[in-house]
Amino acid sequence: MTHTIKSAEDIEKMRIAGKMAADCLTMIGEHVKPGVTTGELDKLCHDFIVNDCKAIPACLGYRGFPKSVCTSIDHVVCHGIPHENQVLKEGQILNIDVTVIFEGWHGDTSKMYIVGQKVKPPAERLVQKAQEALYLGIDMVKPGLKLGDLGFAIEQFAKQNHYSSVRDYCGHGIGQKFHEDPMVNHFGTPGTGMELVPGMTFTIEPMLNQGTHICRVLADDWTVITKDRKLSAQWEHTILVTPTGREVLTYREGEEVNLVRAT
Ligand code: MF3
Ligand code: CO
Ligand code: CO
Repeated sequence: MTHTIKSAEDIEKMRIAGKMAADCLTMIGEHVKPGVTTGELDKLCHDFIVNDCKAIPACLGYRGFPKSVCTSIDHVVCHGIPHENQVLKEGQILNIDVTVIFEGWHGDTSKMYIVGQKVKPPAERLVQKAQEALYLGIDMVKPGLKLGDLGFAIEQFAKQNHYSSVRDYCGHGIGQKFHEDPMVNHFGTPGTGMELVPGMTFTIEPMLNQGTHICRVLADDWTVITKDRKLSAQWEHTILVTPTGREVLTYREGEEVNLVRAT
């Protein structure tokens, strides 16, 4: 497996792309409510990226994906396609996944939203624990860490909380390519896998399921759902390995100070 090392100039562009993707997630938050369609959310994100950021929505046309962001509701694990007739309902959990290209460089991040005020406690807990799984992975990142250790820790955390960690989809190296080496699995064997070095950039994007980790893809060839139709939640950040640890390129404003760390 090969990987690219980013220069100081590359990283500067990735910081900008990362901030744009993060700002898009912040912008869309107030629009997520019952009655809104995922098609409307997609258009708002598209226009923000194109008009406000003067950047490119990476998902649009990527391997034939028809929209600018992914919107994944409830038992949809990832890669949900926004639709003009898909109306959000009270109590649903929604992931919006945004990837921006700025001057050729990518920033990729996603977060969960709760639709309305009346979410069920089990759904809320899943959303929270999936975010903690991401943060615990981020906290491990530093030169010398092996990716098998990262994946193992995330899956262990999922299991301890009575969830499963999805195996069919993973984090990935990122840079001038949307998806590049290394593959960043959210499961693994301690002491194995690629060893991190400064200048690597990749995503961590754990998907935690209430039931089985097994997924299936719908006939649209994109939408990934849980085989048992139980809920799934995902959060994602783009991360740079620094000489002393890590820099998260897609933190939203205020996120770092408000972090709820896994215990
Ligand atoms: N943003 C997703 C990821 O985290 C990939 C979406 S590909 C698309 O890797 F084509 F569905 F947009
Ligand atoms: Co990604
Ligand atoms: Co993504």
